Amino acid sequence: MKKLLLFCLFLYAATITYAQTAPLTNLMPMPKSMVFGSGQFNIKPNFTVAVKADATDTILYAAVNRAYQTLNRKTGLHFGQQYITQNDKSDTAALIVTVKQKAPAQLGGDESYTLTITPKQINLTANTTAGALHGLETIVQLTTSNSQGYYLPAVTINDAPRFQWRGLMIDVARHFIPLDVVKRNIDAMAAVKMNVLHLHLSDDEGFRIESKIYPDLQRKGSLGDYYTQVQIKDLVKYAQARGIIIVPEFDMPGHTTSWLAGHPELAAAPGPYQPGPRFKMTSTNGKPMGLMDIMKMITTAPTPSFDPSKESTYLFLDRFFGEMAALFPSPYIHIGADENNGVAWKTNPAIAAFMKKNNMADTHALQAYFVKRVSQLLAKHHKKTLGWEELFSTDLPKDVAVQVWSNPAYAGKALAHGNKILVSKGFYLDVFMPAYVHYNNTAIPESITAENKALFTGGEAAQWSEAVDKDNIETRIWPRAAAIAERLWSPAAVKDVPDMYRRLFAISNQLDELGVQHIGDYNRSLRRLTSGRDIAPLKTVTDVLAPIKGYKKMFARITKPAGASYQTAPLTAISDIIFVDSEVKRRFRKLVADYLQTKDATTEQAIRIQLMLWKNHRTALEPLLQNIPNSADIDAFSKNLVIAANAGLEALDNLKAGKAPSADWIKQKTDELATTKTVYGEAGLDIIVEIEGLVNGKLAAEPADYPLF
Ligand code: ACM
Repeated sequence: MKKLLLFCLFLYAATITYAQTAPLTNLMPMPKSMVFGSGQFNIKPNFTVAVKADATDTILYAAVNRAYQTLNRKTGLHFGQQYITQNDKSDTAALIVTVKQKAPAQLGGDESYTLTITPKQINLTANTTAGALHGLETIVQLTTSNSQGYYLPAVTINDAPRFQWRGLMIDVARHFIPLDVVKRNIDAMAAVKMNVLHLHLSDDEGFRIESKIYPDLQRKGSLGDYYTQVQIKDLVKYAQARGIIIVPEFDMPGHTTSWLAGHPELAAAPGPYQPGPRFKMTSTNGKPMGLMDIMKMITTAPTPSFDPSKESTYLFLDRFFGEMAALFPSPYIHIGADENNGVAWKTNPAIAAFMKKNNMADTHALQAYFVKRVSQLLAKHHKKTLGWEELFSTDLPKDVAVQVWSNPAYAGKALAHGNKILVSKGFYLDVFMPAYVHYNNTAIPESITAENKALFTGGEAAQWSEAVDKDNIETRIWPRAAAIAERLWSPAAVKDVPDMYRRLFAISNQLDELGVQHIGDYNRSLRRLTSGRDIAPLKTVTDVLAPIKGYKKMFARITKPAGASYQTAPLTAISDIIFVDSEVKRRFRKLVADYLQTKDATTEQAIRIQLMLWKNHRTALEPLLQNIPNSADIDAFSKNLVIAANAGLEALDNLKAGKAPSADWIKQKTDELATTKTVYGEAGLDIIVEIEGLVNGKLAAEPADYPLF
């Protein structure tokens, strides 16, 4: 048995290694196993598809037709009018899709598929509809071209996810995110085999779904921006058709100001309430708050929350959840339960008396009581409960799942208690980390013990929306979330960061083709800045900027007079519109790393061309700056980019000549470069470390992580 296991491990390692030496593909996530054959399947105009499946599997047929049209458009070959609507016994079609069981996506369901591509045919087989949908995405990603035309490499892929829960959370409450944007995110999720869209539907700033039983929730809690029930039903169907389950979150007992605007009777403290941030972000002296002020407010302010001591609260929630349970087929409803500091409870004498009467030692015990009551209500409506880590207590029912977001100790505690867990710690997209930080997330261990396998369900990327809105949310989420999708789908052994970045930017382009607006929004925002003038000179600079990492940017934003939590606060500063992980930086970094290893002349030329572009860009940029209001930051970045480029060119000359620079020269350049690291408007140049690499003849490794505060 042991020998067999070792042999399997060897085979497994061999396929992973083989994948890296075989033809490069743009697959993301990488499959579980992939063995290349010889030759390729050439796509021709007579490309036909046969489906062998349940004739009533409408989700499958729609997905096959979508993939077929994607290939039709990509190749431009005019496949013809074929519309695949029924079982087809043909064995001669170019692509044969065989599905054993009509079974759409479900948590923990079979998502495996096998794809066999030979020069003669493409065969996709899956046990379920969900698996087939993933296989179709793989076919689209494998399709590539040379001067002869479009083709797929000959390969056998056996694929299945490592984790059953591969989610993306979008906060549609702080800033409302319209349906078309949510749908585009669903398209992107499907392309990278994610399967859960967690919608954070309510928070202090907004209540974003129509309740027919309690219409004052949206009437007084949304400022008009919410999804109607008709829209939600359509969205759920749209997601189902793409293999994605929508898990709704109704955050409680804290983060509930927007509910209390229409229903102050639910509150632990008398109102009135208006939807908006849970505490004011301006100090009493009128100045913006600092980090310490904010941290103090989080723990000490009497933030709005439900009154858990009143039976009427549970009667309300019972009816509300009954209504919502009917809209969402998801087995789970998320109840938030995060960041309730208990201050509003302590200061209410009736609640204090309730705690005393029920022998509750502190507000944690009261929160545990609330969570238990709500989970019982959800069970009555045939739903399981999920919440953020603060819902954990040793009193937590075993069927409640825990989403770890801040303190990794909760993962161990919940697992030991027998609760399922889901990891978002290390996957927060709103803290401006490069993709590799999420990719190497240590909160997802390389091996999960056999006993924890069933409980460790997976993870979720999380995009909070204090500092994003409909115009920049796609630039924030994509393509970085694809690296998280790979971490949750692919074997732990898939962890080559440079190769991840190569594929990440290929996927970014695929998502752009699909209609995702991450690249479009960035370019559109730059055109807005230049009032429609040519953005190329500006892009030379903004392409190599990154927002400062951690919560500093969000805090800077939400403490400004027009706080980011207001729907209409424009998020149009440079740090709002740039990508978090610069593609130009990643390409430049790879060139520098390769050159320092190989001293290869072609790589040296590529670096020189890039440095010359940076050195000379001001000729075109300066006239453009005359037409951009408040362009001092861009001007400063631009001047620093020239300083950095000049240092890089001198260093490159030294390296090319094989000349060891003097210690004095290195110090002088290091000092110059230090000044180019200055942050303006919560952004900074992101290629200085690489220039320092040229100066020092050694590229510093990137840190595993960066501080959040
Ligand atoms: C959270 O970020 N408060 C779950």
